[in-house]
Amino acid sequence: MPALHPTLKAELHLSDGRKIELPVYQSHLGFDAIGVEKLQKEQLFTFDQGLTSTALCESSITYIDGDQGILLHRGYPIDELAFNKTYLDVAYLLLKGELPNEEELKAFKAEICSHYMVNEQFTRLFQGFRRDSHPMAVMCAASSALAAFYHEYYDEDPEKAHDKTAIRLLAKMPTLAAMCYKYSIGRPFMYPQYHLSYAGNFLYMMFATPCEPYVVNPVIERAMDRIFTLHADHEQNASTSAVRGVASSGPNPFACISAGIASLWGPAHGGANEACIKMLEEIGTVDRIPEFIARAKDKNDPFRLMGFGHRVYKNYDPRAKVMRETCHEVLKELGINTPLLQVAMELERIALSDPYFIERKLYPNVDFYSGIILQAIGIPTSMFTVIFALGRTVGWVANWRELNEEPMKIVRPRQIYTGHTERHIK
Ligand SMILES: CC(C)(COP(=O)(O)OP(=O)(O)OC[C@H]1O[C@@H](n2cnc3c(N)ncnc32)[C@H](O)[C@@H]1OP(=O)(O)O)[C@@H](O)C(=O)NCCC(=O)NCCS
Repeated sequence: MPALHPTLKAELHLSDGRKIELPVYQSHLGFDAIGVEKLQKEQLFTFDQGLTSTALCESSITYIDGDQGILLHRGYPIDELAFNKTYLDVAYLLLKGELPNEEELKAFKAEICSHYMVNEQFTRLFQGFRRDSHPMAVMCAASSALAAFYHEYYDEDPEKAHDKTAIRLLAKMPTLAAMCYKYSIGRPFMYPQYHLSYAGNFLYMMFATPCEPYVVNPVIERAMDRIFTLHADHEQNASTSAVRGVASSGPNPFACISAGIASLWGPAHGGANEACIKMLEEIGTVDRIPEFIARAKDKNDPFRLMGFGHRVYKNYDPRAKVMRETCHEVLKELGINTPLLQVAMELERIALSDPYFIERKLYPNVDFYSGIILQAIGIPTSMFTVIFALGRTVGWVANWRELNEEPMKIVRPRQIYTGHTERHIK
């Protein structure tokens, strides 16, 4: 990454007469940033709750412009990637900076396949959990457990260690996720299949049984691959910042990813598609929609339509466009028309035509469509965030890698202290 050079200067004037000159760093796209490190010398620091106006790092992986509805990975628009490339192409791009050619992709996939299996000891780890444990709790534990198996990370050449860590994580997360599901329903674990695609193998491990042959449906396989692709990375979101924050003190990378999974679990982050399905179930039938629309518009009612609107995208979420098309393909292929899907489709129609939603740019978001797809293909709601975690793993690893390739500073924010002043025991 090129070193940052200030292009402009900012001057901070305090009412006590102090004047502090600060550097302004230029981004390749988007906002510039004021460097505030110098403030400490003046016994000052900045206050930015939630770090919404603070750049945590310099990064060349992903760029988002929420006002324009733009998401770029290494410069490529997300819809171009999702419609023309597979998840493994995008994973390679995020990790290495360029799209792979045919041979590079083949070699990348072969390496991932060779790491699909997890140590057989993992079957015992799963047996320690209640069958009704939340799969995200099990995923936090299972990803941390990988750290115990791969502690040799520290002894290797950094370049090789980074590659191997990325490959192991990409390969083993689907296996662990499918094991979570199989364990929860008391069915035997299914070993990964090298001849299938990345998404196809995951579907196989989720839905095949040892009793009969399982054929991967290509429409579902493509939908799964797109869900992974559309969740692959999203700049410095809460879970990615959590991974960076933990990684900044230099622990085992698998433990860092576990921190990302924990952060993603929260309903304010990865849990939105689950919340969306719960809302659709609560609405129940199409005739009850007007009641819920009225509640969503009522200023005195805290109810909000789950799966609509986005904190960053104030224009159509570019991922939702792809997800919408994929969702309609899946529903057509499966010929499903449950009351829940009828409610979802009618809500979509209303949101795209009602002035309340149009004026506020409250479009259906990626979670709305991914929830419907996952529900239609038979994935239980409690597994939705796990699927998100699978897709996002590569974004976490790419950020972990980037952080490790730069001179590292431990993330150590400050606080505004509002407790007691010094006092003594009487
Ligand atoms: C995502 C979300 C938190 C973004 O919120 P935000 O950027 O802070 O937007 P605001 O709260 O400023 O809302 C702007 C306006 O739209 C309305 N609004 C926002 N989301 C709404 C929703 N889902 N349903 C109904 N009205 C909504 C607000 O009431 C507000 O109306 P007003 O201008 O008349 O006061 C919000 O849209 C939401 O809660 N969505 C549902 C949850 C969800 O799907 N989350 C997943 C996001 S990936």
